[in-house]
Amino acid sequence: MTQKIVVVGSCMIDFTCFSPRLPKPGETIIGTKFEKKYGGKGANQCVASAKLGGSTALVASLGCDTFAQEYLEILKKENVDTSHVKIQKDKHSGIAHITVAEDGQNTIVIVLGANESLNREHVDSAVDVIKGASVLLCQFETPLETTLHALRLHQGHGLSIVNGAPAVENLDPEILKLCDIFCVNETEAEIMTGIQPVELSNVQQVADKLLAKGCNAIILTLGPLGAVYASKANRNVMLIPATEVQPVDTTGAGDAFLGAFAYFKAYHPQLSMDECIRRACVVATQSVLKFGTHASFPTISDLPADLFEDK
Ligand code: ATP
Ligand code: RIB
Repeated sequence: MTQKIVVVGSCMIDFTCFSPRLPKPGETIIGTKFEKKYGGKGANQCVASAKLGGSTALVASLGCDTFAQEYLEILKKENVDTSHVKIQKDKHSGIAHITVAEDGQNTIVIVLGANESLNREHVDSAVDVIKGASVLLCQFETPLETTLHALRLHQGHGLSIVNGAPAVENLDPEILKLCDIFCVNETEAEIMTGIQPVELSNVQQVADKLLAKGCNAIILTLGPLGAVYASKANRNVMLIPATEVQPVDTTGAGDAFLGAFAYFKAYHPQLSMDECIRRACVVATQSVLKFGTHASFPTISDLPADLFEDK
């Protein structure tokens, strides 16, 4: 059976320290809580779609450790097709060290581990799933050549979205040309364009630079401000505002946005681009009101019913 949404991406084990504030370089501060959770941008985006009721498949690599077995069980419980999640015998699972401050902001250091072993052959083994999906979603926590391969396989079979996170400087422009939509947050856009800080007053310039690099269309997420969209066909940026809330934990907000956006594109293809982005912002806004990643992603029953209507 093929799934509507396929993610070729990462799995990470998230070790999160909650702290009054983010430490300064060289500083040690006493935190308030520690949690081990399951994350990774690829798996998070897949779970965010699945929690909305999307049929999803994940093509990913986990390591040879107990975390991997636990993660597989979690993904299965979320109804994610894990037939193409492989265990790499000689690697540890990807690890993320996360600090979350009381104002909801975070910093993250990742060690890729088994995610580095996600290769062309692995993607080839999932070719039917990739070609059968209406939406392909990729990120930058797995090798770029593997992502390129997945994008080439999916070409002509549906919509492809690349989340350029974490940011890569001097990116192979082919990846930007191959995907239908390239999505980054402000920090990633700053690294890619050299425009700093990215703010509402210069988003047109940011969009122009990303489109000039070869993107077909871009979404720039702007935290509480929402997101902007621009494309080759219409370079004028369109702002889709979010309703600002006081976040408790923004970890995975971008993943909630992307998973939800993929869901609306796959299940409500007649909706306009700005409406899909608006609805994805509603889902992402909900996610920043709860701690964690998967646990913070809303299900259909947590959201207004009209979010799932066709108009
Ligand atoms: P992450 O913290 O996971 O790296 P991100 O930086 O990739 O997240 P953001 O641009 O911060 O992603 O947020 C993604 C989306 O989440 C925004 O477009 C918006 O819809 C929603 N969002 C984030 N913060 C807030 C907020 N304070 N109020 C309302 N919505 C928010
Ligand atoms: O986007 C949030 C995710 O980034 C975390 O779950 C962490 O694993 C890192 O990959």
